[in-house]
Amino acid sequence: MSRAKALVDASILAVWTALRPSSPWRIVPIRSLGPHHRGRIARHLLSLGPQDRYLRFGYAAQDAQIQLYVDGLNFERDEVFGIYDRKLTLLAVAHLAYDDQEPECAELGVSVLEKVRGRGYGALLFGRCAMQARNQNVPTLLIHALSENVAMLTIARNAGARVQRDGAESEAYLQLPQASLNSRLTEIVQEQWARADYRFKLQARQIRYPRPIATTGTMPPPLCQTPIPRAPAKKKTNGLFYKNWPNSSTPGRTPPTS
Ligand SMILES: CC(C)(COP(=O)(O)OP(=O)(O)OC[C@H]1O[C@@H](n2cnc3c(N)ncnc32)[C@H](O)[C@@H]1OP(=O)(O)O)[C@@H](O)C(=O)NCCC(=O)NCCS
Repeated sequence: MSRAKALVDASILAVWTALRPSSPWRIVPIRSLGPHHRGRIARHLLSLGPQDRYLRFGYAAQDAQIQLYVDGLNFERDEVFGIYDRKLTLLAVAHLAYDDQEPECAELGVSVLEKVRGRGYGALLFGRCAMQARNQNVPTLLIHALSENVAMLTIARNAGARVQRDGAESEAYLQLPQASLNSRLTEIVQEQWARADYRFKLQARQIRYPRPIATTGTMPPPLCQTPIPRAPAKKKTNGLFYKNWPNSSTPGRTPPTS
């Protein structure tokens, strides 16, 4: 009995430790993103400052160029991963791009919002993408970064990548091991957990900010467009009020003729 209680206590502690936002051992849900996340991906990238845009894209990307990049994301070929906060703001995004011409290499681009940097999100997304590429039987992960991008190159080096510097630009190559049952199962479990977390946040948001439920058939016009029937305005004459209705029955009070 006491062993069972100890087991339950340990499980509660483990779940609490994993979910507590401040815990260093917490599980951060990283979910794969699809075409319906384009708007949020765009908002995430557009909120990056000029320096971050320069580091992320290798040039000072303007809003229109970022929008073009997001519109052109090929979700059927590539993988995009994100970390959402409880308000469903994308805190971090990683784009794992495959090249049909070079099937032995997948290229990674990452960005993390400034306010949540240094929490390990960049490294976690790197690890998630490395596992994904490995499970797709891609042998090498490539990171193309500016040589001044210490943070990104540190993440790559920590993961065991070989960094080649070529002037202002650097390339990091990470050799990936072959996929295993463990890596495939881990991917499935992580994805399911992240999707459940996303659904939970979405429902919490819908409870907080409910929307009118769509029904089949013709929807009534929005409230703001529905004309509100109004009674004709009352007129004030000689200090007396009268009801301005055609069949006014107020005795002794008739509308003035002029
Ligand atoms: C690069 C970037 C993704 C890192 O995200 P992050 O979540 O802050 O990174 P992490 O918290 O996972 O840090 C990982 C490592 O980098 C180190 N690091 C982070 N920022 C650093 C900085 N400014 N200078 C030096 N090292 C830094 C951390 O110390 C950590 O190393 P450690 O584990 O040995 O301590 C983020 O800074 C970013 O979005 N930059 C702008 C876009 C960009 O440069 N993208 C990369 C182009 S592909």
